[in-house]
Amino acid sequence: MIRRYQVGEMLMDTGAVVGSYVAGEGFLPGWKLVIGEGTEGVVAGAEAAKTAGSVEAVEEHQGFTLTYPLAEEEKIFGLGETIRGMDKRGWLYTSFNVDDPIHLPGKHSLYASHNFLLFVKKDGCFGLFVDNPGQVDFDLGYSHTREAKIYVHEGGADLYLVEEESPIEVVRAFRRLIGKSYEPPRWAFGFGQSRWSYFTADEVREVAVKHREAGIPLDMIYLDIDYMDSYKDFTVDTERFGDLKALVQDMKEMGIHLVPIIDAGVKMEEGYSVYEEGVEKGYFCKKEDGSLLVAAVWPGRVHFPDFLKAEAAAWFGDQYQFLLDMGIDGFWNDMNEPAIFYTEDHLKEVFEKIEDYKGKNLDISAFFSFRNLIGTISNYRGDYERFYHEVGEKKLRHDTVHNLYGAKMTQAAGEAFERMGKKGEVLLFSRSSYIGSHRYGGVWTGDNKSWWSHLLLNLQQLPGLNMCGYLYSGADIGGFGDDCTEELLLRWLALGVFTPLFRNHSALGTRRQEFYAFENEDAYRNIVRLRYELLPYLPMAFDRAVEEDSLLFSPLGFVYQEDERAWEIEDEVMLGEEILLAPVYQPHVHGRMVYLPEEMLYVRVSKGLKEAEKTPMSAGDHYVPLKVGEVGFFLRKGYAISYTEAAECVRDAKKECEVLSFEGKE
Ligand code: GLC
Repeated sequence: MIRRYQVGEMLMDTGAVVGSYVAGEGFLPGWKLVIGEGTEGVVAGAEAAKTAGSVEAVEEHQGFTLTYPLAEEEKIFGLGETIRGMDKRGWLYTSFNVDDPIHLPGKHSLYASHNFLLFVKKDGCFGLFVDNPGQVDFDLGYSHTREAKIYVHEGGADLYLVEEESPIEVVRAFRRLIGKSYEPPRWAFGFGQSRWSYFTADEVREVAVKHREAGIPLDMIYLDIDYMDSYKDFTVDTERFGDLKALVQDMKEMGIHLVPIIDAGVKMEEGYSVYEEGVEKGYFCKKEDGSLLVAAVWPGRVHFPDFLKAEAAAWFGDQYQFLLDMGIDGFWNDMNEPAIFYTEDHLKEVFEKIEDYKGKNLDISAFFSFRNLIGTISNYRGDYERFYHEVGEKKLRHDTVHNLYGAKMTQAAGEAFERMGKKGEVLLFSRSSYIGSHRYGGVWTGDNKSWWSHLLLNLQQLPGLNMCGYLYSGADIGGFGDDCTEELLLRWLALGVFTPLFRNHSALGTRRQEFYAFENEDAYRNIVRLRYELLPYLPMAFDRAVEEDSLLFSPLGFVYQEDERAWEIEDEVMLGEEILLAPVYQPHVHGRMVYLPEEMLYVRVSKGLKEAEKTPMSAGDHYVPLKVGEVGFFLRKGYAISYTEAAECVRDAKKECEVLSFEGKE
């Protein structure tokens, strides 16, 4: 049963909800509402805003807080793409999408805002969705261990209370409320190789040929920003890429799809048709005085399309046709928080202030203020308060609807593909998101690092993302920033093999991360081939999660509700109904401790599923051996999965399947 409670008027319909609910009577049972300032929530919010660069915004604010007493053993799941573990209790999370590539546990925000929480205690559970497109802070037992406090900064909110018998039923009811998750074309379940950047058509061909020659399956090569002419969306640098259409065609013949990146900012340049048309038709975001906001991203000065304005969104969506016409059928939408390197206005302010410091003795406070001037120039909170969106008759200040920007960019593309009759045929995923965009595309978790802790973070983010509708998701395997090692890459691939988005991506300036950058080609090949052996199973488990509005990845407790230990496990997940995953996420080890809630079959793969070592294991704790380059998983008793022979791409996958099953001892 879902009930909706309203606090004030929503600034706009976020589009998150499509299903049915009833109007709740009174107020959210068990929750206290305080409108206005003077609450501790404001303090927590101020702290978070400080890290985002503006305290004033909080002090002026008129928001509201919701407070709820937590039972000692109560756990809190959900919140989609966030840092820290699966159980979210004990930290302050801020929904205010940010382009921040340093995902340390001390951070409060990432690229997405997924305001759905699931509270679980001994005598029951419930879900809560806070639908508000601006900043929302979730103080989940952070200020006070026994209290959850939610602070909505601006505008009204719709609160949806989801009451069902079990956590998984809560998730399913919530997912029915927000609508069916996006399903990509089948080939998107293959393996993808990416790099910022492959700079020329020849480099792209080299990646393709090397994979084919080594017998490492590959379905996608990603094109990062350098395929464009001067970072202009919907253009191609023909000097370096020649005839892109021909390249796309050649790759398709090899069974490989090229997937270009699309950035939110549109370069300001005379003669560039997307820019000129956008200006002429009034499709870019404006400031209060009606002039266009000038921000800067990769190309230098850009305008931001107003994705919240229906006509502008439709227009931007139509632009994808340029690449679709070349045979492209996949995209990743980026920098859509939106990321701002600087705005012209703020740059001016900063230069003026720098003048004040000239010739002065920079003492402790002057020095830090001076340093902050430059340090906080990007993604500056004040810049998000400088521009507006046209939503119907309303003009809404960006910061109050900030979290919708990336979601509406994804929706614009997804709706365009539908108009073009290509629903289900185009791969689409985004960096920034808000619940609702899960109906149009998937997400990747942004600029992680080549750190062991981020392998674990990848695992821990999956259930939360699934709860919020993002089933097609994954992380940059091997890590985006910093230098990867062979050991980390192989361990990470051994998790990535099971995630719908299975992509090796790394940043400019870091150590190369393709298989040929390392020595153990056999291990790499075996892991990627396992993914293709599992093709009769993985996409089927994915489809089932979409159909049934259920989780592809769930915390163990969701499946083994009566098992207290299962609820505490933060480094294992259930995949579909059949499999338990316990990846190795530490260096220099030859296995790990695994907790099994029931008897299972340990499947240890070093060279194909057929030859895998299969060991029945009893319920309880085990030290499970797993060497670097192997993949292990556990099959539940009474379950079976189908597999096939690995092919070099999804298109060539064999139809004939074999079955791996485990009947257990009795
Ligand atoms: C952003 C993206 C990253 C991409 C880079 C260059 O940092 O998150 O994936 O490689 O921009 O486009």
